[in-house]
Amino acid sequence: MAFPERFSNLPDYAFPRLRKLLDAHPPGGEPIAMTIGEPRHPMPDFVGPILAANLAGFAVYPPNDGTPELLTAITGWIARRYGATLSPDQIMALNGTREGLFNAAIALCPEQKAGQKPVILMPNPFYQVYAVAALTVGAEPVYVRATAATGFLPDYASLPKDILDRTAIAYICSPANPQGAVASADYLADLLALAEKHDFCVFADECYSEIWRDTPPTGLLTVAKTTAADPERALVFHSLSKRSNLPGLRSGFVAGGRNSIAEVRKLRSFAGAPLPLPIQRVSEAAWADEAHVDASRALYQQKFHAADQIFAGMQGYQPPGGGFFLWLPVEDGEAAALKLWCETGVRVLPGAYLSRDAGGQNPGKGYIRVALVAPKEETQRGLTQLRDCLYGQGT
Ligand SMILES: Cc1ncc(COP(=O)(O)O)c(C=O)c1O
Repeated sequence: MAFPERFSNLPDYAFPRLRKLLDAHPPGGEPIAMTIGEPRHPMPDFVGPILAANLAGFAVYPPNDGTPELLTAITGWIARRYGATLSPDQIMALNGTREGLFNAAIALCPEQKAGQKPVILMPNPFYQVYAVAALTVGAEPVYVRATAATGFLPDYASLPKDILDRTAIAYICSPANPQGAVASADYLADLLALAEKHDFCVFADECYSEIWRDTPPTGLLTVAKTTAADPERALVFHSLSKRSNLPGLRSGFVAGGRNSIAEVRKLRSFAGAPLPLPIQRVSEAAWADEAHVDASRALYQQKFHAADQIFAGMQGYQPPGGGFFLWLPVEDGEAAALKLWCETGVRVLPGAYLSRDAGGQNPGKGYIRVALVAPKEETQRGLTQLRDCLYGQGT
């Protein structure tokens, strides 16, 4: 049987690759998982009672776009967090951001741009759905280095004009997975100006927006408002997975220009799966409450602080501005992950599993990604073992 050629060069997903690398070897100590970006702080108390009170909702097909109550809760959160006033028809509820980041590209990427195959830009390294979305729509994925040299964000303006003219969509992730970089208001304003100049749309993956160290990251909606950018050029993707420690709820939203959102809504009404009604009710409460978000952020801030102390003075250690990953330089990410597992039982992800070869180089190869999702004591233990194993005791 023939399979699609366009996916034939896709590497295996990061976690099966990691299992293949590590699982043939016994751990060198009590295993500590610092691999997956799955929050492990408590979920909000109200989830169970709201779900129980709305069980009957599983007996009906849910509204495609989101209930009016959920859309209102989301516009309220956007107004408080970003100072932008959106109407409910500028939002669609998502089954988590991954679904939206994929489906919005299908809904919005044209077959041709400037009479040629369209380009979709993405940072490198990056969250892998961006590349699969590009391949799915028949666009050319262009991987743009996001390394120390560019503040760990992609420098899209440095691309050749012919690439920018063919660009239909540019993904940006802030706070960035895996690098932890946060895009400034100026960076986002420049990106929107570039999008205007070359007529493309920015997809801002802001699913880590509520996990930050000192100041809340600027959002694309705020910048679009202050720069009076065309709202159709700015789509943002948000999630309860990280914000509310509900990765299994599968709930988020996409917001942006009315026409773009209408296209995204339309596609899902034909081919997608709306969120079950009881999940929409829980989500409504989650977007309306900040207390649980503040409590969770405080736990991450303690862990950032612990990481700063453990890696104090280490060359190349870059405290993340947001998100919950450390992106640590090593000679070779796979060799480091294997050594760490075999000698200590600490499990981390080789950076190259999140990046692609581009221009003869792989910008993730010399890194490991370390998730700070476990409780503080376990995280501290894992980080200390990691430092001693990979960088020499007491670096
Ligand atoms: C950068 C980034 N975007 C999107 C997602 C998808 O999250 P969800 O679909 O749970 O909202 C993740 C999950 O790890 C992520 O790290």
